[in-house]
Amino acid sequence: MLLRKRNNRYGCFVIIIVILLVNFVLIFPPGPLLHWPHFSSSRTLIPQAQSNIVDKGNHSLLTSHPYAEVRHIVFLKVHKAAGTTVMNIIMRFAISRNLSIMLPRTGNMFSQYNQLISRKALPSFHEDKRLFDVFCNHVIFNKQIMAPFFPKDTVYIGIVRQPFDQFVSAFVYYRNLYHVRYLVKIPGDNPIKTYLSDPVLYEPKKLPHSFTNNRMAFDFGYPGTDFNNMTKFREFLQALDKEINLVMVVELFDESLILMMKLLNWHLKDIIYIKRNSFQKSHNLTFSLSEKIIHRRWAKLDYALYNHFKNIIITKIKSAGPEFMHEVHNFRTIRTKVESFCKQFYGSGMLMIEESEFHSSFFVRREDCNFLKLNAFGIINIARQKHTTRLDELGITYCSPNKTTVECRKYPHL
Ligand SMILES: *[C@@H]1O[C@H](CO)[C@@H](O)[C@H](O)[C@H]1NC(C)=O
Ligand SMILES: *[C@@H]1O[C@H](CO)[C@@H](O)[C@H](O)[C@H]1NC(C)=O
Ligand SMILES: *[C@@H]1O[C@H](CO)[C@@H](O)[C@H](O)[C@H]1NC(C)=O
Ligand SMILES: *[C@@H]1O[C@H](CO)[C@@H](O)[C@H](O)[C@H]1NC(C)=O
Ligand SMILES: *[C@@H]1O[C@H](CO)[C@@H](O)[C@H](O)[C@H]1NC(C)=O
Repeated sequence: MLLRKRNNRYGCFVIIIVILLVNFVLIFPPGPLLHWPHFSSSRTLIPQAQSNIVDKGNHSLLTSHPYAEVRHIVFLKVHKAAGTTVMNIIMRFAISRNLSIMLPRTGNMFSQYNQLISRKALPSFHEDKRLFDVFCNHVIFNKQIMAPFFPKDTVYIGIVRQPFDQFVSAFVYYRNLYHVRYLVKIPGDNPIKTYLSDPVLYEPKKLPHSFTNNRMAFDFGYPGTDFNNMTKFREFLQALDKEINLVMVVELFDESLILMMKLLNWHLKDIIYIKRNSFQKSHNLTFSLSEKIIHRRWAKLDYALYNHFKNIIITKIKSAGPEFMHEVHNFRTIRTKVESFCKQFYGSGMLMIEESEFHSSFFVRREDCNFLKLNAFGIINIARQKHTTRLDELGITYCSPNKTTVECRKYPHL
């Protein structure tokens, strides 16, 4: 009874969101986003060595970028680790360049539980319907399974967050918003404290259903059967270093973004973002040192994962030289300007950003702000609408997003 009530309420919520989105798309058709010169549709990529060159040219909005940007990207959206912010950046880039994004036919994610992405995907609109340009979603990472769907030169990117913060954030989010059963059942004024008193007792039976048991390591594809073998986990991290080109760190977010921009040879305007809720604390709970120590012991894989990738980022920042931090500060200043422009409801319709030693000038329009503010659901819906329109134009058949998975299970394109 209670459950049905919740479902009804959820249904209403979904309908309202859909209506809002439809209105949004009618008012602001997904046109050019954060305007920048038209790029040739060539999909050639530059050798990595060249990708560190900073574009210091004086380019009007009508001239093109001197170096090709990387347009083949797989981003692994790790749970509660600023994934939606990065998703906004990557999807904005992909949508504005008409790239073929691997999208779920329905909903906003492929799977929280397994590595099989294919069955749920809309086909690509490229000639080889298997091949996509971009992936940006939750999935349990497995490069062997994913690689056949993306060109060989695809750049793989991941993200990690300080494990205790990630744990608390996931706990609060999945308990309060998604009413995940095993979390709701944990008693006490501070259920996180209760949980930490005996994690094994409160964990769900099936590991993939847990958002609190070394979830970052699990999202990166470490098998549950080997959770107790640290030797194996160290080997796993070494293997990830070869499979993933860049793992960003939430606590060094702007630094990570600048590194990503350089790796992909993007323009600074491509990595602009607006701070989301995830950057504010969503709870008023406090924890003692002993609880943090218990968590450190319980989530030892996540701590090892985090420290591993954080050290790599710090090394990269150091080797980028003193100019790097100037570039980060410059980015912060501009990002803040864009954010306050987007927060005003009135005023001029366009914000000009002057060139600096790090980038050429660009401008931001009100419509761009609307995209910057979108959540995962909104972004995926815009991308999916654009994608299915393109499939229709090209006469590529696909299992319509409004059909259920069961009907589409045998869908032939994959
Ligand atoms: C950049 O180009 C514009 C238009 O061609 C020109 O007016 C301006 O002086 C140039 N700025 C620099 C710094 O070269
Ligand atoms: C993307 O596609 C639209 C419509 O098909 C077209 O008008 C636009 O010029 C394309 N943009 C790019 C960057 O290719
Ligand atoms: C742990 O993993 C290592 C490396 O894969 C393996 O050699 C060892 O047998 C494993 N230990 C256990 C207890 O399974
Ligand atoms: C935390 O406490 C402050 C001050 O009491 C309150 O304004 C805020 O809404 C609380 N935040 C949450 C997420 O409960
Ligand atoms: C499902 O979507 C297709 C096009 O995507 C549309 O033609 C059809 O009417 C839709 N069916 C329902 C039941 O909404």
